[in-house]
Amino acid sequence: MGIATSMAVSTVSAQEVNIYSARHYDSDLALYNAFTEQTGIKVNIIEGDSDQLIQRIKREGIASPADILMTIDAGRLWRAEQEGVFQSVESDVLNSRLPDSMRHPDGLWFGFSQRVRVIYYNRENFDPSQAQRYEDLASADFPGDICVRTSSNIYNQSLLSSMIERRGVEETQEWAEGIAANLARDPQGGDTDQILAVAAGECDVALANHYYYVRLLKSDNPAQREAARKVGIIFPNQDSYGTHANVGGAGLVTTSPNREEAVKFLEFLASDEAQEMFAVGNNEFPVVPGVFKDPVLESWGNFKIDEINITALGVNNPESVRVADRSGWR
Ligand SMILES: [Fe+2]
Repeated sequence: MGIATSMAVSTVSAQEVNIYSARHYDSDLALYNAFTEQTGIKVNIIEGDSDQLIQRIKREGIASPADILMTIDAGRLWRAEQEGVFQSVESDVLNSRLPDSMRHPDGLWFGFSQRVRVIYYNRENFDPSQAQRYEDLASADFPGDICVRTSSNIYNQSLLSSMIERRGVEETQEWAEGIAANLARDPQGGDTDQILAVAAGECDVALANHYYYVRLLKSDNPAQREAARKVGIIFPNQDSYGTHANVGGAGLVTTSPNREEAVKFLEFLASDEAQEMFAVGNNEFPVVPGVFKDPVLESWGNFKIDEINITALGVNNPESVRVADRSGWR
């Protein structure tokens, strides 16, 4: 049987695609298997930190086996673009399946899942009607009430980038100053820590990505589930441009040795089947309308997500870093 298997592999594995991935979700394995089953194309995975993978592709140069770079956050995808890692893809499948906002104008990279950055509040201490917009968090009404991680975090940078796009540099600067003035404590920890601090009453309100909250809700640890129940969620800016969303995404590597297979993989990621698997690994939202959502996400109903093109989150990144530096939000 061992011989038969190895013979089978050597004959059918002529086609392959090499994916450099900064995503580490168990469910991604099912995603790759489904692609191989559907197309006969073998998937090889190299996992690593986003910046490490970018540097590795550059170091390997023309000899790089990398076909696809997959990572999270538009800011990071844009960084890869700036480093010359991506080449243009023109695909009718991607053009028709993905919303405009999820496609780089030159097809250099694409968003395949969405994560929203939302406001959390302590159900006992805080009336959610007071903070229905990101702007409210910077108001003089909430001194010492807000928890958020450092401004050097890419999620906060991307939120600032979206504000720069929507409201301009000056108003974004004022907002960041307001946040710095309203902090309950020096920025510390990750997104989950901000939500737990709200549950513990250390701050009344916090900013964090939605999936960290879903993780707490689904936790095996009763204390974490209990903490999540003390915390309410607000999808900001429903009366204006909608809640800020970031993406998990991918692009075709400039030096890709298996271009055709790689494009097939990107197109596969936009299929209903793959959309569900891609999103579910991290409790994210599929970007193709009508695809099954996680029951918790489904229970939140429809809400307005900001539809600015994901490229803006990268293009405005250097400005958002300067804004944060000037604001005193460390
Ligand atoms: Fe995250």
